Amino acid sequence: MRTTDGDLVLGLYRSRHPRDVLEAAAGLGVARLDTASNYLHHRSHEVLRTAAGDLLPEFSLSTKVGYFPGEHSLDPARLRAAVEQAVKDLGREPDTVLLHNPEHARPGAGMLAQACMVLADAAQEGLCGSWGVSSWDPRPLVDLDAPSPDVLMVRAGLLVGVDVLEAAEALVTRWQPSQVWGMSPFDGSTAKAVWERFDPRIFLQRSAPATKVQAAFRSAYELPRVGAVAVGTDSVEHLRELVGALAYEVDDQVVLEYRQLLRARRQPV
Ligand SMILES: NC(=O)c1ccc[n+]([C@@H]2O[C@H](COP(=O)([O-])OP(=O)(O)OC[C@H]3O[C@@H](n4cnc5c(N)ncnc54)[C@H](OP(=O)(O)O)[C@@H]3O)[C@@H](O)[C@H]2O)c1
Repeated sequence: MRTTDGDLVLGLYRSRHPRDVLEAAAGLGVARLDTASNYLHHRSHEVLRTAAGDLLPEFSLSTKVGYFPGEHSLDPARLRAAVEQAVKDLGREPDTVLLHNPEHARPGAGMLAQACMVLADAAQEGLCGSWGVSSWDPRPLVDLDAPSPDVLMVRAGLLVGVDVLEAAEALVTRWQPSQVWGMSPFDGSTAKAVWERFDPRIFLQRSAPATKVQAAFRSAYELPRVGAVAVGTDSVEHLRELVGALAYEVDDQVVLEYRQLLRARRQPV
């Protein structure tokens, strides 16, 4: 039974980037924001700078490159230009730049390594603090070697299928990232019918007075084991609820049994 010392990352994928939520995040001790060059119709960086530029120094900021208007690309020149543009639009160097869903390009090892080197070089030159890879579906990447990233970001939580979960863990073993971050703990929405069908509080130590949302969020740090989880909300109250979840303890035995159930479901005997 453990509490987490993991970080909550406020993810901006679905967000309108409301200033009150960013202010509340800083006040609640949420020290990290995650965005991407294509979020908010490719305007996330610019909007962050213009609407909340004074708040940005409060946060460690990660962003992603790879999605361009109308298409995804791992072309090295375009990736490099995207990193430079991010610095201009944000008005500062991002702390981390991630390659955004490289699996979309179905890369071979050579193409992936080349794309990673663009970001590694950018970090080396000070255009960003560190670099990494964010993958929604890491299954096409598991057999590929790549330079060891500072960060690997993968889906996390109770709704991650066993194939994706195990592919993420295989990548961690293969690439040896310095940090592993999770994302999308509610699979994009707490309103999905599946969340009505079970009570995630079973994953917490019995005495925890948590809400179902808190239990689902807290469990995401264990499936797979990650040091940070990027979660989206445009509500100050919801953010407060999420921050409160970090104090709860997960029941490791229940997580273990859940993993066994997931595996058994994939491999019926
Ligand atoms: N491939 C990639 O790189 C990739 C892909 C997906 C996501 N991500 C990262 O992960 C972040 C999170 O992913 P996501 O936004 O897709 O999914 P998510 O975090 O699983 O779900 C976000 C939804 O959960 C709701 N929510 C959050 N806290 C709540 C609470 N306390 N009570 C009720 N509802 C709550 C939010 O609604 P309210 O606004 O109403 O609170 C929001 O619509 C993204 O912003 C991004 O940073 C990265």
